[in-house]
Amino acid sequence: MINIAIDGPAGAGKSSVAKAVAAKLGFIYVDTGALYRSIGVSALRNNIQTDDAQAVEALLPEIKVELRFIDGTQRVFLNGEDVSEVIRMPEASMAASNVSAIPAVRAFLLDLQRDMAKNNNVIMDGRDIGTVILPDAQYKFFLTASAEVRADRRFKELAAKGIAVDYKALLDEIIQRDYNDSHRETAPLKQADDAILIDSSDMNIEEVINAIISNIKV
Ligand code: DC
Repeated sequence: MINIAIDGPAGAGKSSVAKAVAAKLGFIYVDTGALYRSIGVSALRNNIQTDDAQAVEALLPEIKVELRFIDGTQRVFLNGEDVSEVIRMPEASMAASNVSAIPAVRAFLLDLQRDMAKNNNVIMDGRDIGTVILPDAQYKFFLTASAEVRADRRFKELAAKGIAVDYKALLDEIIQRDYNDSHRETAPLKQADDAILIDSSDMNIEEVINAIISNIKV
């Protein structure tokens, strides 16, 4: 199987780019952030502090997270419920970032991600795909952009969905999430030594897609 890893900070455009590359190559696009978001949503629904490692860990045996692909599009199920839309609500972002720092949560989601990559040609996006989940992936990219550009893109994305948010609050949240995600002890956001760095601050999506495709031989 061919595995492509795309890591990078929140809002760098990983999902749009990975979706397009997957469509071009006929690969499955796996969005691993959705897994952490589902656990975050489960904690919120159970009135558990998302940074309370013990409480979140105690919740894990009650949680079943599954990925299903419907018409080639990933849907995420939490205990049988399709939560693919719910997990996109802004409050799920910080909840996901908090629970993702808990080692037991990362261990809980490890096999699911590796199994997907073992059985399919995948392009998988996340924070630790090239470093921890798929260290032997044939292709690795680290996609980034300035915090301002990323906040601006998220703002427009949410606005297009009719979700109104304050730009400054979004920027602050991105900066906070970057800090959380790259400073945690377990599997922090980090460029793998053998990953190709793409800074998309001054690139449009087509240019990023081409930069990736031009590196891949299938
Ligand atoms: O990619 P995203 O914004 O949907 O991810 C939500 C949070 O989940 C992010 O702040 C960090 C965490 N995450 C992670 O720790 N590891 C991954 N592979 C994917 C996401």
